[in-house]
Amino acid sequence: METLKIGLGTAAIGRPHYINIRNATTAAFDLKSFKKKAFQVLNAAYKKGIRYYDTAPGYGIAEQIVSEWIKTKNDSTIEIATKWGYVYTANFDLNADIHELKDHGVDQLIKQWEDSKILFPNLTTLQIHSATFESGVLENDAVLQKMAELKSIQNIHIGLSVSGDNQVEVLKRALEIKIDGQPLFEVFQVTYNILDQSLHSIIELIKKNKNRIVIKEALANGRILPNADYPHYYKLYSILEGLAKKHKVGVDAIALRFCIQSIDPFMVLSGASEVQHVKDNLKANTFELSQEDLDILYSFKVKPSKYWSERKQLQWN
Ligand SMILES: NC(=O)c1ccc[n+]([C@@H]2O[C@H](COP(=O)([O-])OP(=O)(O)OC[C@H]3O[C@@H](n4cnc5c(N)ncnc54)[C@H](OP(=O)(O)O)[C@@H]3O)[C@@H](O)[C@H]2O)c1
Repeated sequence: METLKIGLGTAAIGRPHYINIRNATTAAFDLKSFKKKAFQVLNAAYKKGIRYYDTAPGYGIAEQIVSEWIKTKNDSTIEIATKWGYVYTANFDLNADIHELKDHGVDQLIKQWEDSKILFPNLTTLQIHSATFESGVLENDAVLQKMAELKSIQNIHIGLSVSGDNQVEVLKRALEIKIDGQPLFEVFQVTYNILDQSLHSIIELIKKNKNRIVIKEALANGRILPNADYPHYYKLYSILEGLAKKHKVGVDAIALRFCIQSIDPFMVLSGASEVQHVKDNLKANTFELSQEDLDILYSFKVKPSKYWSERKQLQWN
């Protein structure tokens, strides 16, 4: 099998609530057992060969947990990618009015960079968290200059993550940005899965210059897993279950494998927050989808506007 192209996202292990299709958690929050479970997930991923971990200050205490965890490993092959631009505000409370706040100003970049330094010596990547046209971050010279400075002084990769039905347009704009004649961004964290395949329209452009493509939301936040709340995906669910049976894995592994083979990215992120889900997700590395399997899955793409309006309905739970 090829080298492991699966990384672990830490959005769901650094805060108890996250946007997905799970049932709401009602158990009282306990920091000690929460951290213990996060360590178990990180260790399970490491044991299975994962060496790329994606985090952010917006993911609650994920950066602190990851920084404590890497000290237990002392392994220079571990890569940590973080982001800046969101502040976690929920304080572990499911009923918080606001779970996170976006701030794409240069002061926030400087502040969060200082905090993220706890991830050294394994910190290799700094990304803008969810760059949009509305936040003006790609037109903000102070931000772009500061990121270019960090790239050269700290010797790290600079990137951005994108979300939303215009993610391709944001990517196009980001690819045009140059500082001192050199492209600034080299890591592109993009939503891609069986339902939202819009990344295809810009993939060749991104892959020039050996840029890194990192896929997020490969399971469409759990929506590709059979679920009675999404009857319009029943046909997809039945195809996925057939492929899962054929390849002797779960539906999750089929969806992750689809991303690996159809994009050939640098990494696909697993968003698992359960040890068993990490193990299930990694079965994506044990088989090959045929061209016929891929062609069936390609046919289930939906319009980005439809995909993202459904995504907006998902709850924190
Ligand atoms: N930059 C951004 O704006 C942004 C946005 C979203 C995500 N991300 C990054 O991408 C990573 C992955 O994205 P994601 O977590 O949103 O999406 P995802 O991978 O599409 O979905 C994760 C969901 O699938 C569930 N799941 C996984 N394997 C399963 C299995 N075998 N059986 C049942 N359920 C399973 C998980 O449940 P459990 O939690 O119960 O395991 C979780 O609810 C994040 O951790 C984060 O690092 C970045």
